[in-house]
Amino acid sequence: MMRRLAAGNWKMHGTAESLDEVRALASTFPSPKCDILICPPATLLSRMAETAAGTAIAVGAQDCHTSPTGAHTGDISAEMIADAGGAYVIVGHSERRSDHGESNAEIRAKAMAAKSAGLAAIICVGETLQEREDGRTIEIVRGQLGGSIPDGTTGQNTVVAYEPVWAIGTGKVPTLAEIAEVHDDIRKEMIARFGTAAQEIRLLYGGSVKPSNAHEIFGVPNVDGALVGGASLKADDFGMIVAELERA
Ligand code: PGA
Repeated sequence: MMRRLAAGNWKMHGTAESLDEVRALASTFPSPKCDILICPPATLLSRMAETAAGTAIAVGAQDCHTSPTGAHTGDISAEMIADAGGAYVIVGHSERRSDHGESNAEIRAKAMAAKSAGLAAIICVGETLQEREDGRTIEIVRGQLGGSIPDGTTGQNTVVAYEPVWAIGTGKVPTLAEIAEVHDDIRKEMIARFGTAAQEIRLLYGGSVKPSNAHEIFGVPNVDGALVGGASLKADDFGMIVAELERA
């Protein structure tokens, strides 16, 4: 049985004192009915992994390089993330695609690097507002899936996050029907490529998920959890989202 996933993406937020949020979350959910993940900035990764050791909270990174080692100033590899205690890595977040010009091919290489290091990759896709207004959402998402998801993808090594760019950090959320349409299409694409085992690939919705809208979003078919930015920074807010996912 697939376990749903509540994933927090702290982005460029968090210092040592933020580890208290992880302690609070861990004590609220000693044995949750879903998986819980926090992806802090790289500077906090190993400390958070130590804090979360022996609890139900998994830790992950927000990006990785395509190579295991090398002359790549400022980058970290999937092996280093695993060594620091990470179990997941987000790849292809829209902020990486736009701030760092990451292509689908590069994201696919990062997902493959994650797989060789034994990490699960959370591969992000999603359309811009212009693309949605032009009626190209499905075409754009299919293109990103085809280009960024490597062969050999399974529910164990991969999670897919649908994050409309215009919904990230804006408080704007697609309608439930819009979320359902895209998630349904992603599921069909995954099954067409990887067979019925792709039913086990968790499909997360991301973009302005908060305690007040989590319940309805988790009721949408093929939504197996959420990738949460702003509302994952505080254990109280994120805990309410986790509780909604447990009930879903
Ligand atoms: P948000 O970010 O929840 O702050 O909109 C989501 C994300 O970028 O993963």
